[in-house]
Formats: sequence, structure tokens, C-alpha cells
Amino acid sequence: MITVHSIQEIQDFIHSERSAGKKIGFVPTMGALHEGHISLVHAAKHHGLSCVMSIFVNPTQFGPNEDFSKYPRSLETDKNLALTGGVSALFTPSQEAIYPNEHIRYIDPPRNMNEVLCGPFRPGHFRGVCTVVNRLLEIIQPDELFLGQKDAQQLRILQITMKEQHPKINIVGVPTVREKSGLAMSSRNKYLSNEEKNKASIIYKALSETQSFFKLGEKNTQRLLEFAKKILNQEPDFKIQYLELVQWNDFQNTETIEEKSLLAIAGFLGQTRLIDNIFLD
Ligand code: PAJ
Repeated sequence: MITVHSIQEIQDFIHSERSAGKKIGFVPTMGALHEGHISLVHAAKHHGLSCVMSIFVNPTQFGPNEDFSKYPRSLETDKNLALTGGVSALFTPSQEAIYPNEHIRYIDPPRNMNEVLCGPFRPGHFRGVCTVVNRLLEIIQPDELFLGQKDAQQLRILQITMKEQHPKINIVGVPTVREKSGLAMSSRNKYLSNEEKNKASIIYKALSETQSFFKLGEKNTQRLLEFAKKILNQEPDFKIQYLELVQWNDFQNTETIEEKSLLAIAGFLGQTRLIDNIFLD
């Protein structure tokens, strides 16, 4: 694995891979790597691709009161994980490389998809995500882009916006990797104490039990949401920010579940904001 900092170096690497007949899979990250990130690398390898991973803590996707400055940064550990995970090239650009002269070509998410779930609680967040991923895709120009279902709204928004900007790039959604307790792996889990981690397992309990309820035949949105809420309320320290059930395709609310839908939860354990979701299909 090579680790490179400049755009020239990563483009030289990609050029040599392509000359050797290889195709490129791209995994964008903000570092503090864990098995969830590595599962995206495995998916790229599984598709027979040479895997390029980026680590860039993107300032434009953090709100003024969010954790940009204290976001976990652990480059040396990340390098080892990326290497053993099968990354071919690790790209760690500077802010100046991504946003030269602070010139930013913003890409906006579709309005209706930004008005639900995390959108209202994180104004500007998905705009920042679309903007940085677009910039990274301009640099890397991969054949395939690998994203986690853990961040389902991000995945769906990028599927739509990047299809417009980069129609040739195939976007692959990879299932969420979880701890044994069910807690979705996340870089932000580093903020949780062990006790909080135990409490956080209530989120997956609510998601998976509601999915079972759905599979047993309950299709009424209201009843499914009430069922999930009851389970979440078993853990009084988990403060729900939202609990929503929307159609996967367009993020619209419906009275009954007729097509593939997303049950999504966000909330706080202490100061730490956690999100998770499951498909009802
Ligand atoms: P980050 O949170 O580092 O996540 C990078 C990628 O890993 C995302 O596609 C995310 O969905 C995926 N991922 C995170 N946890 C996962 C898990 N438990 N199982 C499977 N995949 C998981 O998401 C971002 O960074 C940024 O917004 C980014 C897309 C890099 C743009 O800055």
C-alpha cells in the first residue's frame, strides 16, 4: 500500500493501475477507521478492483456547533488497518488540495431528501457531503464508489446527485457492520463509555424487533413507529432526536408500507449523537 498526500501522486498511481489493466474502486472516509470502513474495502476487492481510500475530515459538512475540531484523528492506526484490509493506495489530501484558494463548487442535495431525517437537524451537512464527494470523484475518477448503508440518507442522496455529476460511476451500498451487541460501528463510538455502549444497543434492538414485526405482517406506519418507540423508551438515557419511517426511493412518508422503506433513528447518549437504520423490504 502506498500513502500519498498530493493530487499528482494519487493520479499517477491510478494512471499506472489503469495501464496495468486494473479498474479502480473508491472508498471515501474521514478516518478513525473501523471494521465498517474495512467492509467497504472488502466489497471493492470482491468486485476485482484496486482499492483507493481517502481520509479527509471535511470541514464543509460540520455545523458550527459540531465536532470538527475534536473529530477523532488516528492516521498511524488507520494506515495499519487500511494496509491489512487490502487498500492499494491511501490518499490523505490537505484542505488546500480539496478546496484550492477556498474556492468551493457546492453541490446541493435534492431538496425533498434534505428536508427529512438528519437534514433539518444538520443544516448544510449533506451539501458539504455532496460537495466533497464530488470533488474527490473529480480527482480519483473511479469505476465504482463504495458507501455504507449505515449512513443511509447520505447513500441515497449521493446515489442521486453523483449520478448527475458522474453518470459512469457505479455506486455500491454496503450493509452495516455491527458490534456483537448490535451497535452499528461508527468513528463516533469512540466518544462513548462502556456503559453508554451497552445502553446504545437499544437502537438496534428497536430496529430489528420492528423489522420482525413488519415481517410478521404489520404494514401500518403509525403502529410500526409506536412499536419502535416503546422499545427505545426502555432505555431512558437514550434521547430520541427522530424516529422515522420513509420510502427508500423518495424519502416520502406513507400511511402503509407498500415498497422498500427505511426505518431510521437518531438520538443522543450523553453528548454523543448516534444514528442507525434498517430496511423494511
Ligand atoms: P465516515 O463516517 O468516515 O464513513 C465513511 C464510509 O464508511 C461511509 O460510506 C459510511 O457509511 C461507511 N461506514 C461507516 N460506518 C459503517 C458501518 N458500521 N458499516 C458499514 N459502513 C460504514 O461518511 C463519511 O465518512 C463522510 O460523510 C464522507 C462520505 C467520507 C464524506 O466526507
